[in-house]
Amino acid sequence: MTTAELDLLQLREAALAYLAWEQQLSGFGVPAMQVPAVSDLPVQAAPRELPANDVAAALSRAPAAGGDRRTRLAQLEAEVRTCTSCELAKARTQTVFARGNPDSPVVFVGEGPGQEEDRLGSPFVGPAGQLLDKMITAMGFARDDVYICNVVKCRPPGNRTPLPQEAGACAPYLLGQLDAIAPRVIVALGRCAAENMGLVAGGGWRGRWGQFRGIDVMPTYHPAFLLRSPEFKRPVWEDLQKVMARLKAPGA
Ligand code: URA
Repeated sequence: MTTAELDLLQLREAALAYLAWEQQLSGFGVPAMQVPAVSDLPVQAAPRELPANDVAAALSRAPAAGGDRRTRLAQLEAEVRTCTSCELAKARTQTVFARGNPDSPVVFVGEGPGQEEDRLGSPFVGPAGQLLDKMITAMGFARDDVYICNVVKCRPPGNRTPLPQEAGACAPYLLGQLDAIAPRVIVALGRCAAENMGLVAGGGWRGRWGQFRGIDVMPTYHPAFLLRSPEFKRPVWEDLQKVMARLKAPGA
């Protein structure tokens, strides 16, 4: 096969995969993308030590490190349940800690619970969550193969963006979750999540790899934004392709 033929073949495959993504997100049919089986992706072995940074002081309010991943997450979740560190505690129906697999190599971080999440106690179960599930499935994962959480664990009134002091009060919990899981990759869903991981500087913020506490982070658009502006599905597709490529990379 000539180089030109090979290029054409690759173009065709990329176009077909993108078409599958478009169909998936529109809710028509569920064609499978050509992505590695989840069983081929590395499971996280053990929490690893992460470099200290300027938010490490906040971590001192989190439960002491130690024990296995699930024990640490259960401790954190119990602490979150009784947390009154910010005003959001006053109006919540219940706290919303996380859902999914703590052994996942990828963690999705959103902004904060909405109405449905506050009612049901689980993140991303409303309309944006249904779209996120389709995105996750298009990546080749099952819905509960990945771990999903938010910057804040209580619903901001009227679904507004969390204030900096609210995000700051909740930071030890997010840091505790990320430290316990030590995923290979974090996907920051939306500007709020990206900002709270220190990844927004200047104009374009999505689609560029960053790092948070030694973990690779891909910031992309929030699914709630995609519901309002479906024309931005393509860049999200490209971002998630980068995530899958990194998960497949040697040493991942
Ligand atoms: N939006 C988020 O950022 N998180 C949720 O859990 C739901 C909607």
